[in-house]
Amino acid sequence: STAPLIAPSILSADFARLADEVAAIRGADWVHVDVMDAHFVPNLTLGLPVVKSLLAATDIPLDCHLMIENPDRWAVGYAEAGAYNVTVHAEAVKDPRAVARDLRAAGAKAGLSLKPGTALDPWLEVLRDYDTLLIMSVEPGFGGQKFMPEVLDKVRTARRLVDTGHLKVVIEIDGGINDETIHQAAEAGVHCFVAGSAVYDTEDPAQAIAALRATATE
Ligand code: DX5
Ligand code: ZN
Repeated sequence: STAPLIAPSILSADFARLADEVAAIRGADWVHVDVMDAHFVPNLTLGLPVVKSLLAATDIPLDCHLMIENPDRWAVGYAEAGAYNVTVHAEAVKDPRAVARDLRAAGAKAGLSLKPGTALDPWLEVLRDYDTLLIMSVEPGFGGQKFMPEVLDKVRTARRLVDTGHLKVVIEIDGGINDETIHQAAEAGVHCFVAGSAVYDTEDPAQAIAALRATATE
């Protein structure tokens, strides 16, 4: 199988020192950026101006996770700015095909995210237009929550479809990933692991990334 990707989430970083916090995650494959609008989720983080500054501050590809209402209006701006992957939520998007087309036309990968209670099956057809599938393993909104193992059934189904050539997405998981939970997620078939508190609430973020990668590879 392919090498696991590790995407540290800066949601758990010090927002007053973002450039240093991104420099601290040496070895990260993607930087996961949680955009929240206080409407789709009950929390407010950052938006396009901060993402533009981050793009200028790092060479690591940015993985923008938009937890916002009306992503149809806002997502393409992140792609045009230079984000590597832009993920919208299935529960918020109105025209998922058009969004995917716009993101790709702007040079980004297109991502679709499912909250823990959102089923995969109704989205399989739409996912043919997407490059990444972000399966939430906590209710979106906050870092440091407990991993929900019940979402691994969706991972297994998606991975089976990828392995049989019926789906062409990178399977990403987000929420509660740490040294213990990453092993089950890897076994279920996840390709890319988002980790916030498990990376930033440690003495040495680069070492935490290396440890997560080693556990996911076992
Ligand atoms: C939650 C965010 C996550 C969050 C994960 O809504 O989408 O990316 O940063 O944090 P941890 O890894 O601490 O669960
Ligand atoms: Zn996220």
